Amino acid sequence: MQIEGIAKTQNNKLNSILTFQQKNAYQKDGFLVIKNFIASDICELLIERANLLINNFDPGIAKTIFSANDQRHARNQYFLDSGDKIHFFFEEAAFDDHGNLKYEKSKCINKFGHALHDLDPVFNCFSHMNKIAVLLHDLNMQNPLIMQSMYICKQPHIGGEVTCHQDATYLHAANHNIVGLWFALEDATLENGCLWAIPGGQHTNLKSKFIRENNTTKLEKYDETPWELDKMIPLEVPRGSLIVLHSLLPHMSKENVSSHSRHAYTLHVMENGIDYPSTNWLQRAPNMPFLGFLD
Ligand code: FE2
Repeated sequence: MQIEGIAKTQNNKLNSILTFQQKNAYQKDGFLVIKNFIASDICELLIERANLLINNFDPGIAKTIFSANDQRHARNQYFLDSGDKIHFFFEEAAFDDHGNLKYEKSKCINKFGHALHDLDPVFNCFSHMNKIAVLLHDLNMQNPLIMQSMYICKQPHIGGEVTCHQDATYLHAANHNIVGLWFALEDATLENGCLWAIPGGQHTNLKSKFIRENNTTKLEKYDETPWELDKMIPLEVPRGSLIVLHSLLPHMSKENVSSHSRHAYTLHVMENGIDYPSTNWLQRAPNMPFLGFLD
Protein backbone atom coordinates (compact mmCIF):
# COMPACT_ATOMS: atom_id res chain seq x y z
CA MET A 1 0.00 0.00 0.00
CA GLN A 2 1.56 3.24 -1.12
CA ILE A 3 0.55 5.45 1.77
CA GLU A 4 1.85 3.00 4.34
CA GLY A 5 5.31 3.39 2.81
CA ILE A 6 5.27 7.07 3.62
CA ALA A 7 3.49 6.64 6.94
CA LYS A 8 6.37 4.47 8.17
CA THR A 9 8.66 7.46 7.93
CA GLN A 10 6.24 9.32 10.21
CA ASN A 11 7.19 7.06 13.07
CA ASN A 12 10.63 8.59 13.31
CA LYS A 13 9.70 11.41 15.66
CA LEU A 14 12.36 14.06 15.48
CA ASN A 15 13.06 17.14 17.54
CA SER A 16 15.38 18.78 15.06
CA ILE A 17 16.67 18.22 11.53
CA LEU A 18 19.09 21.06 10.91
CA THR A 19 22.46 21.57 12.52
CA PHE A 20 23.62 25.00 13.64
CA GLN A 21 25.87 25.11 10.56
CA GLN A 22 23.00 24.30 8.22
CA LYS A 23 20.83 27.03 9.73
CA ASN A 24 23.68 29.49 9.31
CA ALA A 25 24.27 28.36 5.73
CA TYR A 26 20.61 28.96 4.89
CA GLN A 27 20.76 32.46 6.41
CA LYS A 28 23.94 33.23 4.48
CA ASP A 29 23.16 31.69 1.08
CA GLY A 30 19.36 31.82 0.90
CA PHE A 31 19.25 28.14 0.03
CA LEU A 32 20.18 24.89 1.64
CA VAL A 33 20.85 21.48 0.08
CA ILE A 34 20.02 18.50 2.30
CA LYS A 35 21.02 15.21 0.75
CA ASN A 36 19.18 11.99 1.62
CA PHE A 37 16.16 13.83 2.98
CA ILE A 38 13.84 11.28 1.41
CA ALA A 39 14.49 7.58 0.96
CA SER A 40 14.86 6.33 -2.58
CA ASP A 41 11.81 4.05 -2.34
CA ILE A 42 9.64 7.01 -1.33
CA CYS A 43 10.92 8.91 -4.39
CA GLU A 44 9.95 5.92 -6.51
CA LEU A 45 6.54 5.77 -4.88
CA LEU A 46 5.85 9.44 -5.66
CA ILE A 47 7.00 8.98 -9.26
CA GLU A 48 4.68 5.99 -9.63
CA ARG A 49 1.81 8.00 -8.19
CA ALA A 50 2.56 10.90 -10.56
CA ASN A 51 2.58 8.52 -13.52
CA LEU A 52 -0.80 7.18 -12.45
CA LEU A 53 -2.25 10.70 -12.18
CA ILE A 54 -0.86 11.58 -15.63
CA ASN A 55 -2.25 8.37 -17.12
CA ASN A 56 -5.69 9.14 -15.66
CA PHE A 57 -5.62 12.71 -16.94
CA ASP A 58 -7.79 13.31 -20.01
CA PRO A 59 -5.93 16.00 -21.97
CA GLY A 60 -9.02 17.02 -24.02
CA ILE A 61 -9.75 20.62 -23.04
CA ALA A 62 -6.31 21.34 -21.60
CA LYS A 63 -4.67 20.18 -24.84
CA THR A 64 -6.82 22.56 -26.86
CA ILE A 65 -6.03 25.61 -24.78
CA PHE A 66 -2.32 24.90 -24.65
CA SER A 67 -1.82 24.10 -28.31
CA ALA A 68 -3.74 26.94 -29.96
CA ASN A 69 -2.18 30.39 -30.24
CA ASP A 70 -5.46 32.26 -29.73
CA GLN A 71 -6.22 30.63 -26.38
CA ARG A 72 -4.21 32.98 -24.18
CA HIS A 73 -7.25 33.95 -22.10
CA ALA A 74 -8.42 30.35 -21.61
CA ARG A 75 -4.88 29.27 -20.76
CA ASN A 76 -4.66 32.00 -18.16
CA GLN A 77 -8.03 31.04 -16.66
CA TYR A 78 -7.04 27.36 -16.46
CA PHE A 79 -3.90 28.43 -14.59
CA LEU A 80 -5.76 30.82 -12.26
CA ASP A 81 -8.30 28.13 -11.44
CA SER A 82 -5.60 25.64 -10.44
CA GLY A 83 -4.94 26.97 -6.91
CA ASP A 84 -7.33 24.47 -5.32
CA LYS A 85 -7.28 21.81 -8.03
CA ILE A 86 -4.90 19.49 -9.85
CA HIS A 87 -4.37 20.96 -13.31
CA PHE A 88 -1.89 19.71 -15.89
CA PHE A 89 0.38 21.95 -17.95
CA PHE A 90 2.20 20.94 -21.13
CA GLU A 91 5.76 21.54 -22.25
CA GLU A 92 5.81 24.27 -24.90
CA ALA A 93 7.66 22.03 -27.31
CA ALA A 94 5.11 19.23 -26.92
CA PHE A 95 2.88 20.29 -29.84
CA ASP A 96 3.36 20.15 -33.60
CA ASP A 97 2.12 22.88 -35.96
CA HIS A 98 -1.33 21.31 -36.06
CA GLY A 99 -1.78 21.30 -32.28
CA ASN A 100 -1.19 17.58 -31.90
CA LEU A 101 1.04 16.12 -29.21
CA LYS A 102 4.37 15.10 -30.71
CA TYR A 103 5.05 12.43 -28.11
CA GLU A 104 3.01 10.16 -25.87
CA LYS A 105 1.04 12.12 -23.23
CA SER A 106 3.26 11.09 -20.34
CA LYS A 107 6.28 12.67 -22.09
CA CYS A 108 4.52 15.97 -22.79
CA ILE A 109 3.49 17.14 -19.31
CA ASN A 110 5.60 20.00 -17.97
CA LYS A 111 4.06 20.02 -14.50
CA PHE A 112 0.84 19.65 -12.57
CA GLY A 113 -0.47 21.42 -9.49
CA HIS A 114 -1.29 23.33 -7.38
CA ALA A 115 -3.33 21.52 -4.68
CA LEU A 116 -1.90 18.03 -5.00
CA HIS A 117 -0.99 18.14 -1.33
CA ASP A 118 -4.67 18.46 -0.40
CA LEU A 119 -6.42 16.47 -3.08
CA ASP A 120 -4.27 13.42 -3.69
CA PRO A 121 -3.96 11.04 -0.71
CA VAL A 122 -0.39 9.97 -1.48
CA PHE A 123 0.96 13.49 -1.99
CA ASN A 124 -1.11 14.63 0.99
CA CYS A 125 0.53 12.03 3.21
CA PHE A 126 4.02 12.86 1.94
CA SER A 127 3.55 16.64 2.18
CA HIS A 128 2.47 16.50 5.81
CA MET A 129 5.36 14.32 6.96
CA ASN A 130 6.49 15.07 10.46
CA LYS A 131 10.04 15.42 9.14
CA ILE A 132 8.99 18.38 6.97
CA ALA A 133 7.16 20.02 9.89
CA VAL A 134 10.28 19.69 12.06
CA LEU A 135 12.49 21.13 9.30
CA LEU A 136 10.19 24.16 8.97
CA HIS A 137 10.21 24.60 12.73
CA ASP A 138 14.02 24.63 12.53
CA LEU A 139 13.63 27.47 10.01
CA ASN A 140 11.67 29.43 12.64
CA MET A 141 8.24 28.77 11.18
CA GLN A 142 5.95 28.18 14.15
CA ASN A 143 2.77 27.16 12.35
CA PRO A 144 3.46 26.82 8.63
CA LEU A 145 0.65 26.46 6.11
CA ILE A 146 1.13 24.64 2.83
CA MET A 147 0.13 27.02 0.05
CA GLN A 148 0.83 25.08 -3.10
CA SER A 149 2.38 21.93 -4.51
CA MET A 150 3.76 21.22 -7.94
CA TYR A 151 5.01 18.06 -9.59
CA ILE A 152 7.57 19.04 -12.23
CA CYS A 153 8.59 16.52 -14.90
CA LYS A 154 11.30 18.38 -16.86
CA GLN A 155 10.91 15.95 -19.74
CA PRO A 156 13.85 14.49 -21.68
CA HIS A 157 14.87 16.65 -24.69
CA ILE A 158 11.88 19.04 -24.47
CA GLY A 159 11.92 20.06 -20.78
CA GLY A 160 12.00 23.85 -21.10
CA GLU A 161 14.14 26.46 -19.38
CA VAL A 162 12.75 28.29 -16.34
CA THR A 163 14.32 31.73 -16.48
CA CYS A 164 15.83 33.43 -13.47
CA HIS A 165 13.19 34.58 -10.99
CA GLN A 166 12.36 35.07 -7.32
CA ASP A 167 9.49 32.95 -6.03
CA ALA A 168 8.24 36.04 -4.18
CA THR A 169 7.30 37.44 -7.60
CA TYR A 170 4.63 34.75 -7.85
CA LEU A 171 3.69 34.33 -4.18
CA HIS A 172 3.81 37.38 -1.97
CA ALA A 173 3.13 37.70 1.73
CA ALA A 174 4.22 39.97 4.57
CA ASN A 175 8.01 40.02 5.09
CA HIS A 176 8.44 37.49 2.29
CA ASN A 177 7.87 34.86 4.92
CA ILE A 178 7.45 32.06 2.38
CA VAL A 179 9.76 29.09 1.95
CA GLY A 180 10.09 26.83 -1.06
CA LEU A 181 10.89 23.12 -0.68
CA TRP A 182 12.24 21.38 -3.79
CA PHE A 183 12.45 17.60 -3.53
CA ALA A 184 14.60 15.84 -6.14
CA LEU A 185 12.79 12.61 -6.99
CA GLU A 186 15.47 11.84 -9.59
CA ASP A 187 19.09 12.94 -9.87
CA ALA A 188 19.23 16.60 -10.98
CA THR A 189 22.29 17.19 -13.18
CA LEU A 190 23.73 19.85 -15.47
CA GLU A 191 22.43 17.86 -18.43
CA ASN A 192 18.84 17.33 -17.30
CA GLY A 193 18.28 20.85 -15.97
CA CYS A 194 19.23 21.08 -12.29
CA LEU A 195 18.48 24.24 -10.30
CA TRP A 196 20.92 27.15 -10.36
CA ALA A 197 21.00 29.90 -7.73
CA ILE A 198 22.96 33.00 -6.70
CA PRO A 199 24.40 32.41 -3.23
CA GLY A 200 23.39 35.32 -0.99
CA GLY A 201 20.98 36.56 -3.66
CA GLN A 202 18.08 36.58 -1.17
CA HIS A 203 19.27 40.05 -0.16
CA THR A 204 18.19 41.35 -3.57
CA ASN A 205 15.03 43.47 -3.46
CA LEU A 206 11.96 42.04 -5.10
CA LYS A 207 12.29 42.86 -8.80
CA SER A 208 8.74 42.26 -9.93
CA LYS A 209 5.38 41.11 -8.71
CA PHE A 210 2.84 38.98 -10.56
CA ILE A 211 -0.50 40.55 -9.70
CA ARG A 212 -3.98 39.08 -9.96
CA GLU A 213 -6.84 41.49 -10.53
CA ASN A 214 -10.13 39.65 -10.76
CA ASN A 215 -9.44 37.13 -13.50
CA THR A 216 -6.54 38.81 -15.22
CA THR A 217 -2.88 39.09 -14.31
CA LYS A 218 -0.11 41.59 -14.85
CA LEU A 219 3.55 41.87 -13.96
CA GLU A 220 4.54 44.95 -11.97
CA LYS A 221 8.24 45.68 -12.49
CA TYR A 222 10.28 47.51 -9.86
CA ASP A 223 13.85 46.90 -11.03
CA GLU A 224 14.78 46.06 -14.59
CA THR A 225 18.52 45.62 -14.11
CA PRO A 226 19.55 42.23 -15.50
CA TRP A 227 20.19 39.32 -13.18
CA GLU A 228 23.86 38.69 -12.39
CA LEU A 229 23.81 35.34 -14.12
CA ASP A 230 27.60 34.97 -13.85
CA LYS A 231 27.10 34.55 -10.09
CA MET A 232 24.80 31.55 -10.55
CA ILE A 233 26.05 28.20 -9.32
CA PRO A 234 24.54 24.83 -10.28
CA LEU A 235 22.85 22.80 -7.57
CA GLU A 236 23.40 19.29 -8.87
CA VAL A 237 21.82 16.91 -6.38
CA PRO A 238 21.15 13.19 -6.18
CA ARG A 239 17.67 11.69 -5.89
CA GLY A 240 16.23 12.12 -2.40
CA SER A 241 17.76 15.55 -1.83
CA LEU A 242 15.81 18.53 -0.59
CA ILE A 243 16.69 22.08 -1.60
CA VAL A 244 15.22 24.78 0.64
CA LEU A 245 14.74 28.12 -1.12
CA HIS A 246 14.24 31.60 0.35
CA SER A 247 11.45 33.38 -1.53
CA LEU A 248 13.73 36.25 -2.60
CA LEU A 249 16.54 33.98 -3.86
CA PRO A 250 17.16 34.34 -7.62
CA HIS A 251 17.13 30.88 -9.17
CA MET A 252 16.52 29.19 -12.48
CA SER A 253 16.85 25.93 -14.35
CA LYS A 254 18.10 25.33 -17.88
CA GLU A 255 16.61 23.16 -20.60
CA ASN A 256 16.79 19.42 -20.24
CA VAL A 257 19.13 18.44 -23.07
CA SER A 258 19.49 14.86 -21.88
CA SER A 259 17.52 11.70 -22.51
CA HIS A 260 16.62 11.50 -18.79
CA SER A 261 13.70 13.16 -17.04
CA ARG A 262 14.25 15.28 -13.95
CA HIS A 263 11.23 14.76 -11.75
CA ALA A 264 10.86 17.03 -8.73
CA TYR A 265 8.10 17.80 -6.25
CA THR A 266 7.81 21.24 -4.72
CA LEU A 267 5.92 22.81 -1.84
CA HIS A 268 5.61 26.43 -0.82
CA VAL A 269 4.73 27.22 2.76
CA MET A 270 4.02 30.39 4.69
CA GLU A 271 3.66 31.28 8.34
CA ASN A 272 0.08 31.18 9.57
CA GLY A 273 -1.46 34.53 10.41
CA ILE A 274 0.63 36.75 8.16
CA ASP A 275 -1.02 38.96 5.58
CA TYR A 276 -1.64 37.14 2.29
CA PRO A 277 -2.93 39.75 -0.19
CA SER A 278 -5.76 39.04 -2.60
CA THR A 279 -3.44 40.22 -5.38
CA ASN A 280 -1.73 36.81 -5.27
CA TRP A 281 -2.62 34.71 -8.31
CA LEU A 282 -3.03 31.72 -5.99
CA GLN A 283 -6.48 31.97 -4.45
CA ARG A 284 -8.59 29.16 -3.11
CA ALA A 285 -12.28 28.59 -2.52
CA PRO A 286 -13.45 29.49 1.02
CA ASN A 287 -14.01 25.81 1.80
CA MET A 288 -10.39 25.00 0.90
CA PRO A 289 -8.21 27.23 3.09
CA PHE A 290 -4.48 26.67 3.36
CA LEU A 291 -3.88 23.96 5.95
CA GLY A 292 -0.99 23.37 8.32
CA PHE A 293 0.64 20.20 9.57
CA LEU A 294 -1.73 19.58 12.45
CA ASP A 295 -5.00 20.14 10.53
FE1 FE2 B 1 11.00 29.09 -8.48
